[in-house]
Amino acid sequence: MAMTHGSVGAGRENWSGRLAFVFAATGSAVGLGNIWKFPYIAGDNGGGAFVLVYMGCIFLFGIPLMMSELLVGRRGAGGPSECFERLAVDSGASPHWHIAGDLGVIASFLILSFYSVVGGWSISYVIDALQNNFSGASSEQTEAIFNHLLADPARLLLWHSVFMLMVAGVVARGISHGIERVLSIIMPVMFLLLLGLVAYAFTLPAFGKTLAFLFQPDFSSLSSKGVLLALGQAFFSLSLGMSVMIAYGSHLPKNVSIGSAALTVSLLDTLCATLAGLAIFTIAFSNGLSPGAGPGLVFQTMPIAFGAIDGGYIIGLAFFLLLLFAAWSSAISLLEPIIERVETLTSFNRRGAAIISAGGAWLLGVLCALSFNVLADFKPLFDKNIFDLADFTASNVLLPVTGILVAAFGGWVLTDRATHDELALKTPVLQTLWRFSVRFICPLMVTVVLIESAAPGTISAIF
Ligand code: PHE
Repeated sequence: MAMTHGSVGAGRENWSGRLAFVFAATGSAVGLGNIWKFPYIAGDNGGGAFVLVYMGCIFLFGIPLMMSELLVGRRGAGGPSECFERLAVDSGASPHWHIAGDLGVIASFLILSFYSVVGGWSISYVIDALQNNFSGASSEQTEAIFNHLLADPARLLLWHSVFMLMVAGVVARGISHGIERVLSIIMPVMFLLLLGLVAYAFTLPAFGKTLAFLFQPDFSSLSSKGVLLALGQAFFSLSLGMSVMIAYGSHLPKNVSIGSAALTVSLLDTLCATLAGLAIFTIAFSNGLSPGAGPGLVFQTMPIAFGAIDGGYIIGLAFFLLLLFAAWSSAISLLEPIIERVETLTSFNRRGAAIISAGGAWLLGVLCALSFNVLADFKPLFDKNIFDLADFTASNVLLPVTGILVAAFGGWVLTDRATHDELALKTPVLQTLWRFSVRFICPLMVTVVLIESAAPGTISAIF
């Protein structure tokens, strides 16, 4: 296959420094998963016990795997597939390794298409919050607001299109003028919104109950299923397995330590997930609501609380802005690897590649949006509509497969010299630990994630 860029890294833009990279990668990692999934599965699976296992997963395989992706990106200095191909050839392995990058790019493409639809919902809810539409709403009313939105193709498509334009408009401008500039604003705002929500939650009576729910370790409620959930969540939450960290890593300046950057991003991601949990659960508990997970929690349960509390207008607005920013910064990171792939495959410049990539994901997103109404009964495979099919294929199959390939590549294909050079870890012990993790622990753990997510129940049935 033809790679159009000549010398390695020629003319590539870099992040202006460590902070810019940390903002971008944390923006990717902190997404809908942190807000609507982590708090619920933590509370439901033994609180502190789950958080401990989750942290274990982050250290055992999340951080090492993120380091591998960043390393492949920075050393390959190209689009994701190009990085694999170059480094494989340099290490005397098959150039077909580019397939690992391609699979990640396909995963990003699929996820971006439906992520944009959900991003569109959050724009619609920011507007609802602005118009004070949740004031005094009962659970039937908030359910009706959500169902009306889903049943209305025109509104869904409008917000999906606006969201995709917001994403493409940023990424088309490149690393420093686009992604870095916008994230340098939305990341601090996101942290402030999150802290503001937690500060508000702190004033509510249910804060103590939430602390116990999320953090008190109850090992008896932690089943093997909970451990598997922690594994899968750690992997998804760090945006691994979709070439995103490879693409972001390919713009990482040489003087930034990959190990410490991966550690920082992972800790910030976990911090944001727990803060989101503290805010959401306290607000829900204080209003006598029982929080679940997923779209129902953020789009149906939370609005009831916002409609009922004093200051709910501001709190609700802050919450949906937070959701929108979390989705936006994650979607930005999904578009980047796709653009880089299109650039190497075609002769388009960045702008052209952005139009093609975002346009393609937008088209598939249209089908995803219509899966809630016009195409609800169109279930081409496995009895799933297009939205669910895109989600399942990307999240449950492609992500883990790519994750296993990245780990194997870092652990078995790259030469010791290359990884040593690039990681430049402070002590040889750390280098040995990293290598052991990507050689054995990551492939094993991610294989477990793959089996469990492609055929739920298989592994938990064994234990
Ligand atoms: N890491 C994000 C989350 O926790 C999900 C995500 C997926 C982000 C794909 C970017 C790309 O929600």
